[in-house]
Parts: sequence; structure tokens; C-alpha cells
Amino acid sequence: MRSVQVGICGLGTVGSGVFNVISRNSSNINQRANCAINIAQIGARRDNPNCDTGSTNVVRDIFEVAQNPDIDIVVELIGGTTVAYDLVMTALKNNKHVVTANKALIAEHGMEIFSVAASKGLVVAYEAAVAGGIPIIKGLREGLSANQVNWVAGIINGTTNFILTEMDTKGRDFNDVLVEAQEKGYAEADPTFDVEGIDAAHKLVILASIAFEMPLTLEGLYTDGITQLEPQDVAYAKELGYAIKHLGIARQTKQGVELRVHPTLVPQASMIAGVNDVANAVMVNADAVGTTLFCGPGAGAEPTASSVIADIVDVARTIDAPAEAKVNALGCPISALEQRNIVAIEEIETSFYMRFSALDKPGVLSEITSIMGDTGISIEAIVQKEQPAGEDYVNVIIVTNVTQEKLLSTAVERIENLETVRDSIKFIRVEHLDQ
Ligand code: HSE
Repeated sequence: MRSVQVGICGLGTVGSGVFNVISRNSSNINQRANCAINIAQIGARRDNPNCDTGSTNVVRDIFEVAQNPDIDIVVELIGGTTVAYDLVMTALKNNKHVVTANKALIAEHGMEIFSVAASKGLVVAYEAAVAGGIPIIKGLREGLSANQVNWVAGIINGTTNFILTEMDTKGRDFNDVLVEAQEKGYAEADPTFDVEGIDAAHKLVILASIAFEMPLTLEGLYTDGITQLEPQDVAYAKELGYAIKHLGIARQTKQGVELRVHPTLVPQASMIAGVNDVANAVMVNADAVGTTLFCGPGAGAEPTASSVIADIVDVARTIDAPAEAKVNALGCPISALEQRNIVAIEEIETSFYMRFSALDKPGVLSEITSIMGDTGISIEAIVQKEQPAGEDYVNVIIVTNVTQEKLLSTAVERIENLETVRDSIKFIRVEHLDQ
């Protein structure tokens, strides 16, 4: 059996997971790869107590791995976009194939990295960059290659889903749950990437690029995280039959492509509403297949390792194949990718949940609903909550029918200017994901 030499750079949560799973399942993995996959070298600044590297050659300088003439595949698991970028470029320069779990690197520098790789007949594989253990890159790029994609929507950050689930089901404090997500190895080195939606934005860009054959770009993408989400909205949404999930949505419309990441109300009966804890789920709606749902663990050592190793197997199995027999990094050749107009958030059309605090006296609600009507927004549901003891104000919740976001903003501004309404209005987008 021929042998393929792998160098792993980074021995943190994912790196140790990759080493442990390859060691444990090597005989099955080798059969599936049609070759012996040998971890020939590890580059890591420090050892990891969760990983007994035994007699494997471990060096402290990761660039030694990228330049080692014996290595065929460099596995980049250090994260970030500076040293990781230099490492990947060094590996390509030295004619190594690359496997990476680094979504920020792919979203920000993917076009350059893929171009260099393609020009040298090398593969850069990145299954683990999106949705952890779910094979969504392969699923979308290869499994759905017959289709025109209409939209992709999903829970693509495990940390935020874990936080939202714990807050919702156990009433736990946001910061406590975040600390636990960090301890479990779910969160990014800088967890603001998770809770502010940046990590999900990186992943959405990758999915959109494959789905809509467009270059990777973060430009025009709308991002909102979960830090401003209030527990009362989670509770009110539940009463109205919705769950709040942090979604990434990429949708083809007549105006172009919508690219947005934000908290979203989804019907409790929808498939995605039941996806909890660290799980991720990506729905893809496409012309031939209809709607598919890919679901599974979105973060963590071994689920992510599962995807990294699948890439190593793919690269190793086809290492001697001609370039045209290999899958293009983004599905189609780079020269076939086309720039798309990214639809501004004010132009998107969806339903909205609104919460405001209004004076509890006759005529106030009709004033508010008149503004909604004047603005051309139709109301699907309106609920006035019980007045708290000693309070003159009540919470009013409105769920609208589908409308344009700029009309909603106009209505919000006019209602906020009413003397009978105090504080700013909270609004959250609602998606039914059924068309
Ligand atoms: N921090 C990421 C998440 C890790 O929570 O989803 C997986 O990409």
C-alpha cells in the first residue's frame, strides 16, 4: 500500500482530536483512502495533555512542517489569518496540499489561496471550516451539484446555539454559558467572533460562494450577534409559537443575493427550531432536490476532526489524479465565478417581530396600528401583555406579514416618536424557511 505523509500544524482542541481519531481508526481510514495515511510530523508550540503523540516527530516551528520535503499534506489547525496565511502560502509554495479548518482564512483570503493552489495543481480542502462535523461543503458542492440553489439558511455557530439553548431551557446567564462553551472547546480564541456573528459570517460567505458561484467576499454582508438579545423576547417568542435561533441566510432574489447573519424567530414546528445545544443545521433549498437539512455537531474536538480527516482521506486518495479529476475548491472553476449584487439589508423582505412599551390608555394601540397600515405593513398578530403592578406602560408585541425592511424602519421611527411610546422598539426578523 502506498503511503501519504501528513504534517499537522497546531495541537489545540481540533489538532489533538485529529491525532486521536486517526490513531484510533487508522485501519478503516486507510482502507477508505486506498493508502496508508501517516502522521509524519506535528508542528505545535506546546504539547497537549489530551493527546499522547508517542514517537511522532513533534517540532516547535510549524514552518518546518510546511517546508519538510517528506510531507505531502499540511493540515493547518492554528486558526487566525496572519500566521495561518503565511503557513498555508508556504505550504503551497513548497508544493504541499493543504487541509484547513480555518473559516476566517478561507472567507478572507480564499480567492488568493485557491488561485495559487489551482495554478500549481494542488488541493486546499476546508470541510471543517463550516458547521464542524457536518459534511456540508461536500453535501452542497458535490451532493447537490445538479441543482440551482435558491437559498441556504442555517445555525452555523455552535457556541451561540449552545448559549441560546441554555438561556432558553434553563434560564442561565449569558456569560456563564459562554465560559462553559469556552471550556468545552466550542468557542473561538476570541469569543466575540462567536457571539457577535463574525464566525457565522465567515461560514456564510463560504456557503454562498459555493451555492451561487460567486467569489468569496464579506463585503455587503449584514451581521448581528446575540449580545443584544433579551430573555423577555425569547419568552414572548415562545408564547407566540416561535424559537429564536441565530441564523446565517444566503438567498438568491431578483435583486441579487441576500447575505445576512442575525437572531431570527423561526416557527417552533420547523425542523430548525428543534436543533439545540452545540448542534448546527444547514437547510438548502434548490430547484431539483427541494429542501434538504444537514444537521449535526457544529463544534468540538472530534466532530471537527471528523471533517478534517475526511478531507485528508479525499486528498490522499486522489493525490496522483490529474487536476481535472479533482473537485474545484468552490465547485466551479475560479474563472467561472461571477460577482453578484449583495442586497442591502433595508431592501430585504421578511416578517418581523416587534416589541415596544406603550402607555396603557384608549386609542394608543389604534394609533400604532394606523401607522403600520399607513406604511403599508400588514399585521399578522398583535398581543398586549398584562400590565405590571404599579406600571402605566405595557409591552405590546406585533408580528408582521412579509414586508420590506425599510418600510419597517420607517414605521419603527414613527412609532418611537409617539409620546405614548417609551424607549426604543426592539425588532427581530422572522423566517418561515418554507419557500
Ligand atoms: N466557534 C465555532 C462555533 C467553532 O462555535 O461554531 C466551530 O467552527
